[in-house]
Amino acid sequence: MNDEHLLETLTQQYISEYPTSKELQEQAKRYLVDGGSHALRLFGPYPFRPVSASGSRVRDADDHEILDFWQGHYANILGHNPPVIRETLIQALQNGEGLQTGITEALQTEFGRLLLDQVGAEQVRFTTSGSLATMYAMMLARAFTGKRLILKVGGGWHGAQPLALKGVHFGEGGYIHVESEGLSEDSTAEILTTRYDDPDDLRQKFRQWGDRISCFIVELWMGMGGFIPVTPEYLKIARELTHRHGAVFIFDEIISGFRFCASGVQRLYNVRPDLSTFGKIIGGGMPLAAVVGREEIMRLCGSAAGRRVRFDGGTFSAHPAALLAGKTLIEYLVRNEEKIYPRLGALGQKIRLGIEEIFASHGILARCTGYGNDVIPDSSLVMIHFPYDDRTRMSSPEAVWDPKICNVDRREKVLKLALLLERVHVVHGLGAVSTAHSEEDVEWLFAACDEAAKRIKAG
Ligand SMILES: Cc1ncc(COP(=O)(O)O)c(C=O)c1O
Repeated sequence: MNDEHLLETLTQQYISEYPTSKELQEQAKRYLVDGGSHALRLFGPYPFRPVSASGSRVRDADDHEILDFWQGHYANILGHNPPVIRETLIQALQNGEGLQTGITEALQTEFGRLLLDQVGAEQVRFTTSGSLATMYAMMLARAFTGKRLILKVGGGWHGAQPLALKGVHFGEGGYIHVESEGLSEDSTAEILTTRYDDPDDLRQKFRQWGDRISCFIVELWMGMGGFIPVTPEYLKIARELTHRHGAVFIFDEIISGFRFCASGVQRLYNVRPDLSTFGKIIGGGMPLAAVVGREEIMRLCGSAAGRRVRFDGGTFSAHPAALLAGKTLIEYLVRNEEKIYPRLGALGQKIRLGIEEIFASHGILARCTGYGNDVIPDSSLVMIHFPYDDRTRMSSPEAVWDPKICNVDRREKVLKLALLLERVHVVHGLGAVSTAHSEEDVEWLFAACDEAAKRIKAG
């Protein structure tokens, strides 16, 4: 099993099978830094370029039909281009609605109310990206508490915004590094990290810094950190600690929102945060994000509080097409909740178990994360890992990203190209099942994994 040699072979084969995308990448690089605008999507040797997408599939510039588990960065829960949203948007555009007005549409109230009803929060403000939503939530927390420190989880990604760019990627010493240049010195000193789902570490952080912590932000389902659900016990302790120390408790539901039920996953855990952030799915394929939460905190960006927090700009905030797409999608999910989530979860489970078995049949140790727990019975998210030791529990971002524990390159590079050669697109070792994925798609994925396993075995 020589992964280095295999990666070279896969890369050469990819280059020969995706020639038009290669040309497009060369053109792109003349104008765009690295040929695009999102580092994760610019994988090596170059990304394939899509020309159209429908349901579970994407067609690319080399006329391949590719089975896609990335699904719009986990946003497309109904698959690509779902008719229910497409037709609503076409109709709206024909009626003179949808494009930017810069005026406050009634649609904002309609969707805002729907979102609050589903999540069980008091007030909402919309913005255009998850990164902005988490940044504004943190600014609200600082203004509300009069404290500066931000506590986040090591391995937690809350977007490319200055208050969250620390402890995202695993490095020497763990999740402690500042992620970018160009940040103010204060912002890097004022971000603390704690270990995911580790109550002792959390207690210690609050013991040491409690009087200075403005907020604790956490994903109830770790996204980039490994598709791992938080334990209800931890959440209870975290709620109690934030309460006792007067810190705002923020749930980042940008991946988990409407992914496991037609609400935040907080509904399943039955724990109330002070603020929550939503994005991805709620935009129905359009750029939309939101901060929702307690009125007494949210009001700090309103005129009655002198707009103390300037969460009030954005040329495209609450864009009408995004609101319309989002509202259409959320209404659809609410109407079909009973049908959608158990089916998505069952397909996710079939994929996780099937993949572990396929790799095992070739003598390769592979473990999936994405399994639910007592609170989240069904999960449509899957990540494949290649731990070195059979006894490793894939239950922390450290286990998922420490190259001494797992073969990270095999997941991120080798598997990715091996599956693309079978016309299956995955990111971070797989991705998200959508309602558009069928049993036939799962068989396609299994056959692709079988081929990938053979190649890894042969080296
Ligand atoms: C948990 C989480 N929070 C925040 C963000 C940032 O959202 P956006 O990419 O819309 O800015 C992401 C994006 O992947 C995310 O996964």
